[in-house]
Amino acid sequence: MEKILVLDFGGQYCQLIARRVREANVYAEVCAYDKISLAEIADAGYRGIILTGGPHSVTKEESPHFDKGLLDAGIPVLAICYGHQLMAWLGGGEICTDSACREYGSVTLSVQNSPLFEKVPAKSTCWMSHNDYVSSVPEGFRIIAVSENCPCAAMADDSRMLYGIQFHPEVTHTEYGRQILYNFLYAICRCSGDWLMKDFVRDTIARCRQELQGKKLLCALSGGVDSTVAAVLLHKAVGENLTCVFVDHGLLRKDEGDLVERTLKEQFDLNLIRVNAAGRFLGRLKGVTEPEQKRKIIGEEFIRVFEDEAKKLGHIDALVQGTIYPDVIESGAGKAGVIKSHHNVGGLPERMGFSMIVEPLRMLFKDEVRQAGRELGIPERLVRRQPFPGPGLAIRVLGEVTNEKLEILREADAIFRDEIDRAQPAVPVSQYFAVLTDCRSVGVMGDSRTYGYALVLRAVTTDDFMTADWARLSSDLLSDVSRRITNEVRGINRVVYDITSKPPATVEWE
Ligand code: XMP
Repeated sequence: MEKILVLDFGGQYCQLIARRVREANVYAEVCAYDKISLAEIADAGYRGIILTGGPHSVTKEESPHFDKGLLDAGIPVLAICYGHQLMAWLGGGEICTDSACREYGSVTLSVQNSPLFEKVPAKSTCWMSHNDYVSSVPEGFRIIAVSENCPCAAMADDSRMLYGIQFHPEVTHTEYGRQILYNFLYAICRCSGDWLMKDFVRDTIARCRQELQGKKLLCALSGGVDSTVAAVLLHKAVGENLTCVFVDHGLLRKDEGDLVERTLKEQFDLNLIRVNAAGRFLGRLKGVTEPEQKRKIIGEEFIRVFEDEAKKLGHIDALVQGTIYPDVIESGAGKAGVIKSHHNVGGLPERMGFSMIVEPLRMLFKDEVRQAGRELGIPERLVRRQPFPGPGLAIRVLGEVTNEKLEILREADAIFRDEIDRAQPAVPVSQYFAVLTDCRSVGVMGDSRTYGYALVLRAVTTDDFMTADWARLSSDLLSDVSRRITNEVRGINRVVYDITSKPPATVEWE
């Protein structure tokens, strides 16, 4: 399989770059700049390398650098933002800090003829975020783009296939960003585009079938997309040898537990045990109001319930987990196969003494997991579900969690989600849900005074959930949602919309 290395210098858009490459049907993997050597890069057979941005200044000694042999390794390089400055620096160019050249936000980009700018008009909009700039390009390079304040918005050494761009092609604000990445992958790295989800699914099933023959597997189903897709994929590989334990903590959204159970049992004939443990969880949450304590209790109880069920099943060889690529990158775990022997990573496998864990999705980003789910025939309603936190509605019921509050929240949340799904807002909405506050206020309904809960609607747009902006939903839509909730859900007499970005707020309220 063709692959691209995204060499991470600490940029906030690093994962987004890798996703954009994969969206262009080329496999990309992310590695921190200090976790891989030039020799390892040369051995791995990458078709191309992308150097990411980062918050540093190359002129400072303590800033991240790389072996300058990279420029003569014969591998095409696209260097972005900090990477662009680093490439210039390594090649002997000059970097300046001049407040007059500082840029942040959308600027006009003027490009010259270059294979990198094939099908990019002479003038377009790009996204900049830099203090330093390349004031003199290294020998062998020429300037191929400028912006209003940046004399070297892009540079190229075509003979060595080295390209540097000061702007960010991976963000949507850069009008021709996808085209520029596409040009790098296809015209410069000569990729053919062999990263296709249907092949990945087929190959992973075949590999698991072969390597896990005769083994008994156990999968902890949370009800979320990742574990659902992992379970169906493994079921296709090993059939009856997989048992799934679905711990229903009673903190799922409206009808969610039933939908997961019905689909997996009826459509896929999965060996599934649903444990209705709502009572156990609510019992342990009684009187608890502190958010971190709630999370801790739920995490511990989940493991206990799961262990109790697993004990009843007898000998099991391996645990299936729905780990996905962002978890792998963030844990710095590096590369590893889908099936691996287990070494002290903590958590469930360690406590339960599993010697083997199977992580069929560890190479995939979230949107790719959804695509894999579609390839496997999992219904759209399940595949398209938005991210949902492990502790579930417990961190969306502020303060003490009770059955009554959970019921109120479930109904209100279902209305909000239903209205958004129907309205299909023009703005992209990445996650949308309701939060029940523990604040009550006075209202009036008919001729009587009410004293009900205030409900918060939260909707955000984001690429990676590290930062997020509140979604500009239309006032008509918000008004419809507010009217329906106050009419249909007893206990709520006030609805407010959260207009805070992350940072300073987080997406969830607790
Ligand atoms: P925050 O609130 O940190 O949320 O801005 C970012 C994203 O992470 C999800 N989230 C969680 N997911 N377990 C999870 O699996 C958790 O404890 C948890 N807390 C937050 C949140 O829904 C959002 O998508």
